[in-house]
Amino acid sequence: MITLLVNLLEALLNTFYRTRLYPRFFVLETVARVPYFAYTSVLHLYETMGWWRKSDWLKVHFAESWNELHHLLIAESLGGNRYWIDRFVAHTGAFIYYWIIIFVYVLSPRSAYRFMQQVEEHAYHTYDTFLKEHGEELRALPAPEIALKYYREGDLYMFDEFQTSHPLEVRRPKIENLYDVFLAIRDDELEHVKTMLACQQPDAQQTFQSPHTANRAVLPEAAVTAINEHTADIAQQAVEEEPVEMS
Ligand SMILES: [Fe+2]
Ligand SMILES: [Fe+2]
Repeated sequence: MITLLVNLLEALLNTFYRTRLYPRFFVLETVARVPYFAYTSVLHLYETMGWWRKSDWLKVHFAESWNELHHLLIAESLGGNRYWIDRFVAHTGAFIYYWIIIFVYVLSPRSAYRFMQQVEEHAYHTYDTFLKEHGEELRALPAPEIALKYYREGDLYMFDEFQTSHPLEVRRPKIENLYDVFLAIRDDELEHVKTMLACQQPDAQQTFQSPHTANRAVLPEAAVTAINEHTADIAQQAVEEEPVEMS
């Protein structure tokens, strides 16, 4: 079922948005941040009912959705949401995926995290291919104001909050043009893959914490190795991936 859900989203994007890339990014970012809302909705319910309290997880998932919101705002600033049909597709997809992921997360959190891991991998490949195909033109274009505010000028607490795989303040993207913006977005997606992998580890309920937690527990060596090996594979696949075209 998880693979089917991912394949459906990829088929939608590849069929209707193969060449319209900014609308594609708008649809992808609208739909692909919804699972984080589904996770926080269910976790919030568990806390409210007194069944399970894990505020760290709420905090990290919200920081991930905050990051995805800024990807969405960047796509909008580039005209990705100009046409009603793209807004209709994105909003309908987001509504459907929200309720499906709520259902999956209640039954099997690990499956819901695996779903998002695969969606984030798709997002990483999408942006990586875009950078390879359009690097020259992107370097000549300015960074949108919203990207400068988010990556360079704003309070980076929320940005650090979803960097769960390394110490705080290690990632500070250089943003000078549109190429840098999409490079930062691509690398954000890989950070989300790492976080989704960490959430699927068998002992994640004990070991997974917010990066800002004092005396934070270090992820077990086996988990770190598994995450690093998997993300190295993704980077390798990106080298071999076919390019997409932009109209
Ligand atoms: Fe994104
Ligand atoms: Fe993402």
